[in-house]
Amino acid sequence: MQMIIAQISDSHIDPEHPNGADRIRDLERCVADINRLNPLPDAVIHTGDLAHDGTPEKYQEVARILGSLRCPLHVAAGNRDDRRALRTAFPADGYLLPDTDFMQYTIEGYPVRLIAVDTQSENGNQGDFCEIRANSLRAALVGNETPTAIFMHHPPFEISQSDYPFQFQSREAAELLTGTLDGLQHVVRIFCGHSHRDATGRVGDVPASTNPSVAIDLRLGEYPDGFQTAPLYQIHRFDARDGFVSEIRAAA
Ligand SMILES: [Fe+2]
Repeated sequence: MQMIIAQISDSHIDPEHPNGADRIRDLERCVADINRLNPLPDAVIHTGDLAHDGTPEKYQEVARILGSLRCPLHVAAGNRDDRRALRTAFPADGYLLPDTDFMQYTIEGYPVRLIAVDTQSENGNQGDFCEIRANSLRAALVGNETPTAIFMHHPPFEISQSDYPFQFQSREAAELLTGTLDGLQHVVRIFCGHSHRDATGRVGDVPASTNPSVAIDLRLGEYPDGFQTAPLYQIHRFDARDGFVSEIRAAA
């Protein structure tokens, strides 16, 4: 039982920004690189901040670029994203949390089940989580022991090398998320964005990681020679014995 996930994050598309053309090219290079992979990934996840201060026009541009992907795409909402515009551009019919606006949903049918968690806050750029989202996540996880990977924008763990190590707006919100996963051993991995850098950590017992921003001008962290001028993304390979093994790729 194997699965390959490509993760892209923080593309911050904004044609009106001074670096807008570069960011469009960065995302296009990642899409082209993913499309050349053999084998193709089973799925691509985008862990948020697709557009920079999203308007419908900016999401049209994001959708135009990501529409070229040759494998299925699933997106999580970042602090810069507008849920309504994002949903219009990337409809997840039937997957949304019923009766709420939260972009939280489950994708079945892969060897590893995918769950998008919505960490957007009403009060700022940091991450948030609440009982509504916790209840929906619990309902999706309890009683279904398929191996599951969760993807979301804000990392609910400390990134010590960052100037802003903790990016949830309260310890309580992060602990609610951690507590929701407590004892659920079929949650095998958590994929995050937001930090714009490559980092690893844990959420309770679950290994977790963040992804470099696709936008080169916003990227943080140290990378090997040859990576400086290339947009970066990650490949996560799953097999039932070793779980996920991850690799950063520089798009050609
Ligand atoms: Fe971002």
